[in-house]
Amino acid sequence: MAHSDIGLIGLAVMGQNLALNIADHGFPISVYNRTASKTEEFVAANPATPGKLTGCKTMAEFAASLKKPRKAIILVKAGAPTDAVIDELTKVFEPGDIIIDGGNANWNDTIRREKELKAKGFRFVGSGVSGGEEGARFGPSLMPGGDFSSWQEIEPIWKAVAAKVDAKTGAELKGAKPGKPVTGGVPCAAYIGENGAGHYVKMVHNGIEYGDMQMICEAYDILKGTLGLSAREIGDIFAEWNTGILNSFLVEISAEVLRQNDPVTGKAFVDIVLDTAGNKGTGLWTSVSALDSGVAAPTIAEAVFARYISAIKEERVAASKILQGPAKTAYTGDKKALIDAVRDALYCSKICSYAQGFQLMDAAQKKYGWKLNFGEIAQIFRGGCIIRAGFLQKITEAYARDPRLANLLLDPYFTETVQKAQANWRKVIALAVTEGVPVPTLGSALAYYDSYRTAVLPQNLLQGQRDYFGAHTYERVDAPRGKFFHIDWLHPQRPQLDA
Ligand code: 2AM
Repeated sequence: MAHSDIGLIGLAVMGQNLALNIADHGFPISVYNRTASKTEEFVAANPATPGKLTGCKTMAEFAASLKKPRKAIILVKAGAPTDAVIDELTKVFEPGDIIIDGGNANWNDTIRREKELKAKGFRFVGSGVSGGEEGARFGPSLMPGGDFSSWQEIEPIWKAVAAKVDAKTGAELKGAKPGKPVTGGVPCAAYIGENGAGHYVKMVHNGIEYGDMQMICEAYDILKGTLGLSAREIGDIFAEWNTGILNSFLVEISAEVLRQNDPVTGKAFVDIVLDTAGNKGTGLWTSVSALDSGVAAPTIAEAVFARYISAIKEERVAASKILQGPAKTAYTGDKKALIDAVRDALYCSKICSYAQGFQLMDAAQKKYGWKLNFGEIAQIFRGGCIIRAGFLQKITEAYARDPRLANLLLDPYFTETVQKAQANWRKVIALAVTEGVPVPTLGSALAYYDSYRTAVLPQNLLQGQRDYFGAHTYERVDAPRGKFFHIDWLHPQRPQLDA
């Protein structure tokens, strides 16, 4: 008998946690995993969930257990495994049934899958799920995109299981326990837009996350490199920052990581961790999308490059023996003032990085015809997900003031904040450059700010260069936009300024 409200395929960590979260909210759920023993173990380990958990051995059994129209969330590896599972589902599902991809799919795949499934009569949702294991279990941030009628069908479940934030302050409501989810508050789940919109926004979220993580690492590196502070001391500073404007999950966990001792040696944990970073590609996709769309997102791209350069450890170690940096000088200024300045540099840079991410989403909505609600997206990011931060409430407020805001930097709060803090920001970047501490993201954010606020950039010369060697033409300051001119550079009598 069909009895489950929804089904879930793929019982790796995310799948198990999301299934338990759904069951905790009283929704009966069927689960299926390619390796059946995992399904059995999972169901046996969770005998008394508020919503009944049904393990299925076959896809046919899975389909038969679901109320119609059937709804199934796929949580397997992005790419070919997702296509394989979709293919199997279409064999046991009927037209009108809803297939939801909760993985980290590339939005282009989501657009393709939606089109292909629609042609067969199925409804498809690509839903970004953020928050890692903990989020999936007790309240993720959910970014569903695709067929709107499907969203209406899954909305009660999505809103129930999502993280919740306080309506006024935007602070996340915490304290969920197995069998006892949080109630009330505003859910961090809302319909994002058609076809690939949800997965696109999830991808940009991840790109922003790359930027946030790297910027925090650079702040740590500056404090270490200029003031010679220990990991523990920097951990304490971060914990303090977490009580102010920088309040965020990533600053909070960075403080914890910095204050952690290595269980083997007793040394500071970070001092025994090898400095080579991996990645799973979403930062790359975000940066490629920025390049493709003609949108400047340098801070996010620098965060990806920073991971790449970190990965060539042996080469860096060899280079460190050949390439000299500046002679190290002891910092003689006011320590406390410098620490505050690094905090300000981090905050200003963060504003620029988010400005880039939101501009990227704006370009995408124009390209794909989505209608994104940026205030709501910032609110969805507010709870459950890795980039959750007090500061996102400021973004929600900015878009409430002006839903068509061209750039976050132009919102009065952000304009004033950067205005007040920029002297500190510049001081920190200047010090890092002088001392040879690499600051790819903090530095690129400042360059972004300076470029964006500059009425006349040196691309007048660049257009001259392009016109010279490639006859690419140029526009004039004293002619209407869109009218193009060219100088015959090879003409012997071309006029010279100093003829
Ligand atoms: P498994 O336990 O049988 O390996 C994460 O890898 C999850 O995706 C796991 O639950 C895994 O199932 C599932 N998975 C990976 N590739 C798959 C495929 N091609 N078809 C079905 N499930 C797959």
